[in-house]
Amino acid sequence: MKTIISVVALTLIGFAGSAMAADAEKGKEVFNTNCTGCHSGGKNVMAAGKSLSKEDLAANKRNSAAAIIDLVTNGATPMPAFGKMGAINAADIENVAAYVLKKADAGW
Ligand code: HEC
Repeated sequence: MKTIISVVALTLIGFAGSAMAADAEKGKEVFNTNCTGCHSGGKNVMAAGKSLSKEDLAANKRNSAAAIIDLVTNGATPMPAFGKMGAINAADIENVAAYVLKKADAGW
């Protein structure tokens, strides 16, 4: 029972966290640490048509925070499932999604 209550409490904290604005500045650090290996300058060294440009994100229906959060959490082979692996926490996944969308808007 105690475990269930803790899980519910943590879930609520999680929701409260996601209600706060994602921080693109923090997302930049997350990106530079985890993503530049394959996505330097918004490109995609492994799958050319899946760059982080505004056009590619739209064409691949990944032009929303929700879609990018899902991708970074669950991966898409060969892109790693950073969230599932515990490599990036939920707040930082939101931050990096905000950063990607901001840079895509600015044309990288
Ligand atoms: C090992 C290389 C690799 C790393 C590291 C990586 N990605 Fe990817 N990424 C890929 C590949 C490959 C795809 C294409 C996946 C597919 O087939 O849909 C992709 C796709 C994407 C897309 C969708 C692009 C599109 O136009 O469809 C986004 C957004 C993205 N990655 C963000 C990130 C972020 C943010 C990180 C860091 C947290 C990251 N990636 C780290 C390889 C990588």
